[in-house]
Amino acid sequence: MSTTIEGFQALPWLMRWKGRWVAWRNAVLASPHFQLWAARLPLLSWVARRRAVQAFDLVAGFCYSQVLAAAVQVGLLDLLRRGPCDLPGVMKASGLSQAAALRLVRAAAALDLAEEVAPGWWLLGPQGAALQANPGAIAMVRHHALLYADLADPVALLRADRAAPTALSAFWHYAGNAPAPEAAAYSALMATSQAMVASQALGAYRFARHRRVLDVGGGHGAFANAVARACPRVDVGVLDLPPVIAGAQVDRRIALHVGDFFRDPLPAGYDCITLVRVLHDHDDAACAALLRAVHRALPPGGRLVVAEPMAATAGAAAMGEAYFGLYLWAMNAGRPRSACEYGAMLKNAGFSRWRRQATDYPVVSSLIVAFR
Ligand SMILES: C[S@@+](CC[C@H](N)C(=O)[O-])C[C@H]1O[C@@H](n2cnc3c(N)ncnc32)[C@H](O)[C@@H]1O
Repeated sequence: MSTTIEGFQALPWLMRWKGRWVAWRNAVLASPHFQLWAARLPLLSWVARRRAVQAFDLVAGFCYSQVLAAAVQVGLLDLLRRGPCDLPGVMKASGLSQAAALRLVRAAAALDLAEEVAPGWWLLGPQGAALQANPGAIAMVRHHALLYADLADPVALLRADRAAPTALSAFWHYAGNAPAPEAAAYSALMATSQAMVASQALGAYRFARHRRVLDVGGGHGAFANAVARACPRVDVGVLDLPPVIAGAQVDRRIALHVGDFFRDPLPAGYDCITLVRVLHDHDDAACAALLRAVHRALPPGGRLVVAEPMAATAGAAAMGEAYFGLYLWAMNAGRPRSACEYGAMLKNAGFSRWRRQATDYPVVSSLIVAFR
């Protein structure tokens, strides 16, 4: 283990200056004298206040998530979407006491989920309006109850080294023979949240240039439906495990393929294969094997499109390593990867080149195109 002086010595020579600068900056930021001084200077006081709010958000973030979870669970957001509501209305709809209903609606208002439009009357706030209009986000908020259960003791979860059963690993039952009810539950969640991802992918990449597009690990076919709707001249197929394909709800024109992408060869004849929110679910060896299988199935000149939230994404770094890092850890498989990490894996799998394609909301999905 390296700390202090030895730690700096252990850094690559060119990085030592950066390490020393960061350590000096941290010492200054942590100093009470500096904090007092910074709070009094006009420009620095703005920076200091912002940092203090960010620090508080980090400390209090769990409470914010719980306010949102409670607001969704008791139907508060849905209630306020329908029109202005007073406290007795909130109590009736939520089944909470007067004091509890008031505490929740005020907490929601403080987070912009609700807004007090007249004394004692609330409507949705700006965040509440955006979330309530997004069924995928609401479904994820409900689903997070499993994540919170696994994170109740985060150190125990980390110490378990992904060897102990968790609520999330039970939910994502990809054993190749996932029982139908489990497969239906996770596929329904994915289908609900798919619209946001599909709109990012379709906005960033022109699927109409292809003759045939196969969505591998395509769940109930929500992404395949979106591609077929946007590109009526393209033949679209979807491949997933047997219990998932059994519940697929797709347009008549879409070909359904049952298969295990780790065991069965992928169907040939598609000049584009998509992997949407699939790779990050798998550890490196499995992920590399899947990329090789996709490479084998594509014709020369064929393309692979990877769409998922990625690590080290400018402006959305916390979503990558902090949110997905812990979510996938709790799932006992997979990890968030950066576009560059995927680039290296794609090269190893035999793809000749790859490029990043900008999406409007990288926090929802980034996109990579790889060329066979
Ligand atoms: C996170 S979900 C993503 C579903 C869909 N692409 C989406 O974005 O909504 C991962 C999908 O991969 C499928 N999957 C997992 N392991 C698989 C395997 N070995 N063979 C085929 N499909 C698999 C799951 O059934 C699931 O539908």
